[in-house]
Parts: sequence; C-alpha cells; structure tokens
Amino acid sequence: MASWRDDINLIFFGPPGAGKGTQAKKLVVEREIPQISTGDILRSHRRGGTDLGKKAQGFMDEGLLVPDQLVIDMVDERLNDEDAQAGYILDGFPRTVAQAVALDQLLRTRSSQIDKVLVLRVPDENIVGRIVGRRMCKACGSVFHLEFQPPAVQDVCDACGGELYQRVDDTAEKVRVRLNEYAHNTEPVAAYYQQRGIVAEIDGVGDIDAIYQRLKSALDE
Ligand code: AP5
Ligand code: MG
Repeated sequence: MASWRDDINLIFFGPPGAGKGTQAKKLVVEREIPQISTGDILRSHRRGGTDLGKKAQGFMDEGLLVPDQLVIDMVDERLNDEDAQAGYILDGFPRTVAQAVALDQLLRTRSSQIDKVLVLRVPDENIVGRIVGRRMCKACGSVFHLEFQPPAVQDVCDACGGELYQRVDDTAEKVRVRLNEYAHNTEPVAAYYQQRGIVAEIDGVGDIDAIYQRLKSALDE
C-alpha cells in the first residue's frame, strides 16, 4: 500500500487526450477521492441547459478555453462539497496561469494546498488518434476508445450499460485548436508549479495499466 496521505490534493495535467480522465478514474476507485474534472462539470451544465452551460458551449464546441472567471467560480463552489474535504484530483484545471493563481487564493482561504502535479507527457502525434477514437458514456462519463480501450459491447458502457457518444470537440480539426490552446495557455502552468518542486513528469505513452503504475510510483516518491 502506498505511503502517501489519503487527503492528498492532486492535479492531473497534460494535453487533450493525454489520459488524465482515464488515469484519474483508476485512482478514484483505489483511493476513494473524487475526480474534479472541469470538462465533465461544464458538459453537465451544457446538458442541463444552465446559464453557465450556455455561456461555455460556444467555446467548448470550438475547442477554445472557457473564460477563466467562469471556471474559477465553478471550482470554488465544487471545493466546498463534502466529498472534496479529504483530498481530490483536479483534472483539466488549472489550465491558465491566471487559474493557477486563483486556485492558490481559493486554497489559502481554506488553509489548504496542492501537494503534487502529475504531468502526463504524450507527443502530439499520438493525440489525434486517441481523441478521434474516444467514446464516452452519456450516463456515467466512463471513457473508452474504439481501438485502445473498446467496450465489451459496441456503443454500450461496460460500467453502467449507458449509451456511448462522441464529444463534439473530438474531431481532428478541433484537436488542432485544442493543442494550440494547450501550447500557448496551459503548458506555462507546468512551469508555475515546477518552481515549487511539486511536479512529477510521467511518460503517458504505452499500456494504460503500465502508466498507472508509473503514476503511483511518482506519488510514492
Ligand atoms: P476537457 O474535458 O478537460 O478536455 P481535455 O483537457 O482536452 O482533455 P481530454 O478530456 O480530451 O483528455 P484526457 O487527458 O482526459 O484523456 P482521456 O483519458 O479521456 O475540456 C474540454 C473543454 O472544456 C475544453 O476544450 C474547454 O473548452 C473547456 N474547459 C475544461 N476545463 C477548462 C478550464 N480549466 N479552463 C477553461 N476551459 C476549460 O483519454 C483520451 C482517449 O485516449 C480515450 O479514448 C482513452 O480511452 C484513450 N487512452 C487513454 N490512455 C491511453 C493510452 N495509454 N494508450 C492509448 N489510448 C489511451
Ligand atoms: Mg478528460
């Protein structure tokens, strides 16, 4: 059993398709801490037709980042939930330096901090195939891939039997926009945390379980 505290606060960081969601879901099961995915929360606002969902929709469909303050307020609210009081995995947040600065402020008011940032490194040439072949469950958000992680029954979620769908931003064209956003706005966030010595770089290419073992080793260090 790993030696790190159960109430550890983590950031899973990396480009679109790096495997943040896939790996976070494995750690959630093992460690019983929640995955806080800003992408998943925004998609649920869209489905629910909330004001936030309506404001975010255009940006998301184009592969662009949603304005900082909308996402920061959303995370602020989520961090108050009961299940986030004993550790969590932030997935897809922060992804601008302004969001990282705001997160520091949110955590200071809670006398809390980020303990580790796990950066999944995957080259661009692997990303497009991962994204275009991804399928997600409408009901529970489980992640699949037509080739690399196929469901047992076509278009049906292994976990809950829900219907699988393809995200509107999971096209080759939108992936290029998202990779550009990542390079210009998100990658600098890694340097922000590197200055604190809390970043672990993980090779995100290869077998999903092998990457999970690398990730757990990094947490034990
Ligand atoms: P979000 O949902 O966060 O998307 P993303 O960051 O682009 O990341 P992905 O979810 O695409 O990739 P992932 O790393 O989770 O990969 P996964 O595990 O699914 O954000 C969507 C949009 O919301 C943004 O564009 C923006 O508009 C908005 N947004 C969200 N957060 C925001 C923020 N903080 N600020 C502003 N805007 C924000 O894996 C991908 C595929 O690869 C799957 O099919 C999987 O099965 C497969 N796979 C995984 N691992 C492997 C492996 N080792 N080998 C082969 N295949 C693999
Ligand atoms: Mg994801």
